[in-house]
Amino acid sequence: MSVAKQSKGLDELLTTLEGYRQKDVSNTVTLPREFYTSEEFFELEREKIFDDAWLCVGHELEFANPGDFFGVNVAHEQMVIVRGQDGKIRALSSVCRHRYAQIIEHGERGNGNVIQCPYHRWTYDLDGKLNNALFLEKNKCFDKSNIALPEYRSEIWNGFIFVNLNDDAQPLAPQLEGVNEQMKVIAEQVGNGEFKPVEYYNETWNCNWKLFQENNMEGYHHMGVHIDSLNKPYPSRIISFEDSHYTGGEDSIWSGYNAPLDVNHELGKRSLERTPFKPGDMAQSAPYLNVLDVFPSTAFTISPSGVGWFTLLPTAVNETIYIAGSISRLDPSVTGDDIEGKYKGRPTARVLDEDGDILGGIQHSLTYGKKVEPVGCLSWQEQNLTTFYKQLARKLRA
Ligand code: FES
Ligand SMILES: [Fe+2]
Repeated sequence: MSVAKQSKGLDELLTTLEGYRQKDVSNTVTLPREFYTSEEFFELEREKIFDDAWLCVGHELEFANPGDFFGVNVAHEQMVIVRGQDGKIRALSSVCRHRYAQIIEHGERGNGNVIQCPYHRWTYDLDGKLNNALFLEKNKCFDKSNIALPEYRSEIWNGFIFVNLNDDAQPLAPQLEGVNEQMKVIAEQVGNGEFKPVEYYNETWNCNWKLFQENNMEGYHHMGVHIDSLNKPYPSRIISFEDSHYTGGEDSIWSGYNAPLDVNHELGKRSLERTPFKPGDMAQSAPYLNVLDVFPSTAFTISPSGVGWFTLLPTAVNETIYIAGSISRLDPSVTGDDIEGKYKGRPTARVLDEDGDILGGIQHSLTYGKKVEPVGCLSWQEQNLTTFYKQLARKLRA
């Protein structure tokens, strides 16, 4: 394929996407396959979206003590999130200033007094300054006082740690103003000492990041993919039109939906026994799974028992790292005690693996199954996807 033809393909995709700005749920169909398979479109997303995206990489309770760290690769940038001796949480480069080795691997968690490179043991303080390097005394260009791991932009929003690759990024908090009051109430309750980090997730899936984010925006699939898991306490059939969609609009970066707890189901009843609900609890008037999406690829699930955070880190057009964690009132041995086998005590991992299995198959269909073009009509339970397409269009146009 010629370069000119490829460029035209990208222009066509952008024109198509622009058309989505006029649509609502009554006439929106799912995006054509090229949006999930085009390398060029993916490169544009990297440049225009992910080089300037606020992405959640954890909650401050996960970094309770100085020295607590977490390695994370954000759009190929290798970072370590670490709480310093001064109590501040920083997002530092995890690339050694000696000869580029990755100091903390993606997904690695732990605690240390210093950050040490595994290659030649250069050692850094928790704020990134070089602490020690051996056998450098004969090198005249070595000046320890000038060497540090660079820091990325980060912001803590109601307890959640976000990072951004753009040093000049617009601050996050004003962009989430519309949901700030709600999250402030939740943050105050999470800060009462009852909540602990209980479950982490770090998997790589062979699918485009947007498939996952769209999936995180609707409760329509609970009754399909999650028929034996999430759909029991939070069934699609009791999500009302009003519950299915809230947003600040296409100019905002947030949207969400509520899946009410089915108090008539055994699991719903048990959930209420464990975390007796009173109005106002976790900023809810009734017990819900409230899914709040933050563009481009972070989501939160808020329920009376806790808050989960979920972030998609695209590595290729058809490959996405999915990291997640949760802050819960419940002990992990209690959570998901209806589940046996490898997911015992890890109900979130089970649900996310269910999503990943089906989305990997969808990516295959998008890439190879060209006999079928989908009709693609969206249910009103998928209204947030219309907002997502508009948010994409706005960001890629800029
Ligand atoms: S590359 Fe890190 S100490 Fe050499
Ligand atoms: Fe799901």
